[in-house]
Amino acid sequence: MTAIVLGTRPEIIKMSPVIRECERRHLNYFILHTGQHYSYEMDKVFFEELELPQPRFNLDVGSGTHAEQTGKIMIGVEKVLRKEKPDVVLVQGDTNTVLAGALAAVKLYIKVGHVEAGLRSFDRRMPEEINRLLVDHISDYLFAPTEKAKQNLLREGVDENKIFVTGNTVVDAVYQNLEVAKRKVNVLKDLGLKPRGYFLVTAHRQENVDVKEKLKGILKDLELIFQEFFLPYISNSSENSKKA
Ligand code: UD1
Repeated sequence: MTAIVLGTRPEIIKMSPVIRECERRHLNYFILHTGQHYSYEMDKVFFEELELPQPRFNLDVGSGTHAEQTGKIMIGVEKVLRKEKPDVVLVQGDTNTVLAGALAAVKLYIKVGHVEAGLRSFDRRMPEEINRLLVDHISDYLFAPTEKAKQNLLREGVDENKIFVTGNTVVDAVYQNLEVAKRKVNVLKDLGLKPRGYFLVTAHRQENVDVKEKLKGILKDLELIFQEFFLPYISNSSENSKKA
């Protein structure tokens, strides 16, 4: 039996192709949601919109300091794993849910598979970098998205036999969820946008969005990119369409 441990918005999205594959193959698996993200817009909306099965367990740990959150998740995950006794725990990415889920599992001698293994920012002030490093070194199956990620792992002494270069599940998620989106939403119309006449930016990670000056710098850079690269492109394409 496989336990898929997830807890935040990106994990739900990036695990969606794996969950669908488990469903398609009628595998014996369950989803354990830690509740690190809990607001409707960060959590349930994705299960609904991506048409995913509901988690069998939800720990509802909520927000807190890194230690509080990691500790609460470990305690909750351990309880479920001891009861359910899965053969393998799958985690994806680099959040506190991933670290706590992997750590709880490995201490119960349950095998850990890490999806998106081997990514590095080489910045140890990032909590996610610490999470990645630790999880990669306690996992049994490292699903590296790229050859470069594999090389990062090899450089750190990870056994080559544990590493599988699989590509990134976010690519499968984009293609699969695009089909769902085409069926269900018409976001351009809803927002009054023209195809190729807009650009979308998402900003996250505490070192980017929690430091006012850094966030201001990012917004300024985006404005420059928009004016220098994007605006001429829009003008050209509208000129071209006029000529056509
Ligand atoms: C977390 C992950 C980050 C990931 C991001 C995805 C860690 C260390 N960080 O960062 O790697 O890229 O999720 O979105 O695990 N909040 C809500 N509703 C929620 C969840 C959070 O309002 O459902 C608010 C709370 O005020 C909370 C804050 O967002 O204190 C931060 O949430 P948290 O999960 O601690 O970190 P993220 O910044 O979301």
